[in-house]
Formats: sequence, C-alpha cells, structure tokens
Amino acid sequence: MRVLAISGSLRAQSLNTLLLKEAARLATPGLVLSGWERLDDLPHYSPERDTEPPPAVVAELRGLLAEADALLVCTPEYIHAMPAVLKNLLEWVVSSGVCVGKPAAAWSVSPSLEGGAKAQTSLVHTLEVMSAKVVHEASRCLTLARSGMDAEGHLKDPVQENSIRTALASLTAAAETA
Ligand SMILES: Cc1cc2nc3c(=O)[nH]c(=O)nc-3n(C[C@H](O)[C@H](O)[C@H](O)COP(=O)(O)O)c2cc1C
Repeated sequence: MRVLAISGSLRAQSLNTLLLKEAARLATPGLVLSGWERLDDLPHYSPERDTEPPPAVVAELRGLLAEADALLVCTPEYIHAMPAVLKNLLEWVVSSGVCVGKPAAAWSVSPSLEGGAKAQTSLVHTLEVMSAKVVHEASRCLTLARSGMDAEGHLKDPVQENSIRTALASLTAAAETA
C-alpha cells in the first residue's frame, strides 16, 4: 500500500510536515507513506503553462500520484482556509485527472483549539470537487503545537498517536477496497 503524503506548509519546522513524518513512523509495516517535498518548486498555475509535456516538477507530482494507492494531504490553516501554495498544487493536479476516484485523507494541524478545521473543510471540498474519494473516517483536525511533540518529532499524547494510527488504518482499508 503506497500513500503519497503532501504537506501544505513550506516552513522548515512545519508541524504539518512533522506530523506526516510521524505518521510514516506510526504506519503499519505494509503501508509505505512517502512525502513529496517539492511544493516550493511548483510554478504558479495558469492554464497556459499547463502544456504537454508539462513542467518537469508537475510531471513528477502527477506521476507519483498516479502510482499511489491513496493520497494524504495535511494542511495548515491560513486565514481560515488552506494556504495558497497547496491550492496551487491541487490546481496543477486537477486537469490531469490523476486524483479521480483516488482515496484521500484530509488532515489539518494548527495550534488553535479547532485544529485548523476551516482549512480542513476547504481541503475536503476541493478534493471532492476534483472527484477524489475523500475518506472521512481517515480525515483529522489536530490541535498541535511544537510542545506536543518531543525532540524527535514524536507525538507526546497517546490519544493523538492513536488517532493517527486509526486514520491510517481507515485510509488503508478504503484503498484496499477501491
Ligand atoms: C498568514 C498566517 C495565517 C494564519 N491563519 C490561521 C488561521 O486562520 N487559523 C489557525 O488556526 N491558525 C492560523 N495560523 C497559524 C498556523 O496554523 C500555524 O502557524 C501553524 O503552525 C502553521 O502550520 P505549519 O507549522 O505546518 O507551518 C496562521 C499563520 C499564518 C502565518
């Protein structure tokens, strides 16, 4: 089971990126969770730039998505929505159709009490418009600050750790039956 994990943050110390790395550690042996960390290399989307062949970085992203059994996106919340850089990535993906029917989990991470729920809602909506198969049982809004992780980036709270494990199990189950 191959899951492509995309963080919507460009920050070097991003909680969203750290959580995806933690999820890779918590994943069961049959689940390979690989990150894609070239978000900052994507040009701004414009239909005129969506050429055949596409820019190399776009081709790489679409190829990895096509090969993946499922997609996991973890978004920060910027001004009550997903960051523009993540929406830009999804704009590059939509015209290729590689997300159609693809099982997808939408996560958000924020230090706020709502855990970035508004961004997560906007992410779910966009993925559904793209005809991805959003797995709601595998989706999460996590209230998390850097203090909620140890020096190695491992979650300190066993409840949160279990929530990540069950989300991954739900995503795997959905991908197996897709
Ligand atoms: C421009 C900007 C806007 C933000 N807006 C929100 C917001 O609307 N809601 C929220 O919960 N956090 C907001 N935050 C705080 C982020 O959730 C927080 O910085 C988070 O750690 C970002 O994710 P990252 O650590 O993965 O980069 C905002 C941060 C920035 C820089």
